[in-house]
Amino acid sequence: MSAKVLNGTELAGRVKAKLKQEISELKQKGINAGLAVVIVGDDPASRVYVDLKKKDCEEIGIKSFEYALPAATSEEELLGLIDTLNRDSSVNGILVQSPVPKHINEDNIIQAINPIKDADCFNPVNVGNLMIGKPTFLPCTPAGVVELLVANDIQIEGKHCVVVGRSNIVGKPQAILLLSKNATVTICHSKTAGIQEICRNADILVCAIGKAEFIKPDFVKPGAVVIDVGVSRGSDGKLVGDVQFEAVSEIASAVTRVTGGVGPMTRAMLMQNTVKATLMQND
Ligand code: GUN
Repeated sequence: MSAKVLNGTELAGRVKAKLKQEISELKQKGINAGLAVVIVGDDPASRVYVDLKKKDCEEIGIKSFEYALPAATSEEELLGLIDTLNRDSSVNGILVQSPVPKHINEDNIIQAINPIKDADCFNPVNVGNLMIGKPTFLPCTPAGVVELLVANDIQIEGKHCVVVGRSNIVGKPQAILLLSKNATVTICHSKTAGIQEICRNADILVCAIGKAEFIKPDFVKPGAVVIDVGVSRGSDGKLVGDVQFEAVSEIASAVTRVTGGVGPMTRAMLMQNTVKATLMQND
């Protein structure tokens, strides 16, 4: 294995240490940061993610408010809770863990969150601001990927970045964010013809397609940087990413692992957005 492993846990720790200091200074001015975390249903993966987000809040001094609602919660009930949280001045950031049960229209929920409290940067107002180059918040996973590249002195400007996946949470905002850093960006997805060749052309390959070990060594240009955002469970129950880690590590110059890579950075960016929201609401 020759590739450098980009350590998201370590970088997230540094980001959180800075935020912790900022939060403690805010507390001295009587300002407390609060994040409401809403989970609907009992999806085990969502439960794990929500617990980790709460733990990060605790670690750096953000008050977390958890709302764990049963799977049978109606859209109206959830909208009612969002309305209450929008009005609650102790809540600076609101996130509803995705996915929500199928009978709830997720778009309606995202649109109901006051854009100034939208710590995930999912609301179309914030997505639009990002699109025109005037972001209020940054989308957490894409921003975490960019931070990881920058902190490791990996140049983005002028590079060909290939994003595999077109979700609203990762693929699309990732492409926009890399474009804003002056990369040349190609988005690939499950229907892209010749996807392997396009990936092989990437200087930086960001994989967020959600297919276990989809990216094999022959998808990777020698010396490329490969960022794995995917998390799936193998038949043995173990977590696997979108990238065949061991084999790709022989080809790439830098890679992330499925754990300790992008995940901690996503959460650090969520904390950063919550602090930003708190500052904006106390301006
Ligand atoms: N589900 C998977 N990733 C995310 C995320 O970043 N935010 C929320 N709210 N739900 C998710």
